[in-house]
Amino acid sequence: MSTTSIEELFVHNREWAQQMERDRPGFFTGLMAQQKPRYMWIGCSDSRVPANQITGLEPGEVFVHRNVANVVVPSDLNCLSTIQYSVDQLKVEHLMVVGHYGCGGVLAALEDARVGLADNWIRHVKDVRDKHGVLLESLSPQWRHDALCELNAIEQVINVAQSTVMRDAWARGQKVTLHGWCYSLSNGLITDLQMTVPGVGGLAEVHAQAVALVASRQRD
Ligand code: CO
Repeated sequence: MSTTSIEELFVHNREWAQQMERDRPGFFTGLMAQQKPRYMWIGCSDSRVPANQITGLEPGEVFVHRNVANVVVPSDLNCLSTIQYSVDQLKVEHLMVVGHYGCGGVLAALEDARVGLADNWIRHVKDVRDKHGVLLESLSPQWRHDALCELNAIEQVINVAQSTVMRDAWARGQKVTLHGWCYSLSNGLITDLQMTVPGVGGLAEVHAQAVALVASRQRD
């Protein structure tokens, strides 16, 4: 475990800023002019899943929203506002919902564990669990957690796709592709869940195929 103190964070920050400026003179002043990220990332708040480091993206390259268990709720103004801003204003080309194996929020939903106030938030993951109850029950217990992490990311892509923001963007011909991914804490690799949505139409088919892949991936 890290024993980094608050003072050290400032030391590291100054070293990082100096190193960046040495390597790439004008890096910060260049970013001041505008941010033009091509990507938006919706991921879990888990400290082990940092969007930029995992994908090798630098400041200015990915617009990020994170919450417990990477949930997209149609009434969550916080998440919807970040999607709206990134799509309408920043014109991101790809939006990925990234779950991760070993997600504590997903496990709490799977096991009906009480964790406190967050139970109310995790209720949304329980909806995913209940929607796919038959599939989850058909898997051996050791795969259920992984499967629900994948299914949750897939269902949240659906929620993004059905948001007014995306429907309006696609209706006016804007090119934005949605993706569902799942990150492994154990080896640092991302699995593409094949939940790729380039626009309106075909959502049900893509969803069915992605869910079928979940079942085939979690084998004994
Ligand atoms: Co998590």
